[in-house]
Amino acid sequence: MRGCIGASALIVALPFFAMAAEDAVVIAPPPEGSVSVAEGLAAWGRIYEVASHPRCANCHVGASERPMWSGPSYGQTRVHGMNVMAGDSRIGAETIPCRTCHVTNETGGNAMPHGAPQVAAAWRLAPVEADWFGKSSDEICAQLRDPARNDGRTFLEIADHLGHDVILHWAWSPGGGREPAPYSLQEHTNDVLAWGVAGMPCPSD
Ligand code: HEC
Ligand code: HEC
Repeated sequence: MRGCIGASALIVALPFFAMAAEDAVVIAPPPEGSVSVAEGLAAWGRIYEVASHPRCANCHVGASERPMWSGPSYGQTRVHGMNVMAGDSRIGAETIPCRTCHVTNETGGNAMPHGAPQVAAAWRLAPVEADWFGKSSDEICAQLRDPARNDGRTFLEIADHLGHDVILHWAWSPGGGREPAPYSLQEHTNDVLAWGVAGMPCPSD
């Protein structure tokens, strides 16, 4: 099991990541050369299931300034109600800020069906470049491995981001009767690490 690499090995390999006390996940990349391209592609397939799931993709809408509502709790996919527009700011600063309804709440306030999700961070759309909604596996894969479009992140930095971004943690415990993103945060992180060690392969390579 990848997740079972000892903590001491981690501290040797990755002191920065391993020592952050608030880490929500274990960052334990498999050894260099230990993941085949086929295994990397299998990991990518699972990563795509997560990235394209409504709990993630509804905020990762690219140039559209419209967050999406979809999934079992919503019936048909549709744009966010109440004419919400994120604007260039991605936080709705130009019109109604997201935080008006998605208040920043340290303890989470997501139990009410159809309530606005609340997390301990400023609720907002993902950067324009991280455009996932309705995109193919190849399109999302190409974006995530492109430093020009992924905020200059290596796969280790993507994994680290997953551990620290409390907005996306919500997607695995969304409350309000919403369907959570598939797998778990730790499994998703392990898949990103395996995909990275395999050389970040994409299906159409
Ligand atoms: C006027 C209040 C209001 C504002 C402003 C608002 N939202 Fe929402 N939002 C809601 C409500 C209520 C829901 C839950 C709807 C439901 O579950 O039926 C929601 C749900 C969402 C969802 C769906 C989450 C999911 O996958 O289940 C996303 C994404 C979202 N909002 C993003 C945003 C963003 C980004 C902004 C700012 C640009 C924003 N919202 C501004 C009220 C608001
Ligand atoms: C409420 C909206 C929202 C939801 C829901 C959301 N994200 Fe994001 N995502 C963001 C924002 C905002 C950023 C930019 C944060 C940053 O770079 O610090 C981001 C950035 C990312 C990045 C960095 C990508 C890049 O190219 O820069 C990854 C990876 C990511 N999100 C994964 C996910 C996953 C996986 C899920 C679901 C489990 C998810 N996100 C759900 C808003 C969201």
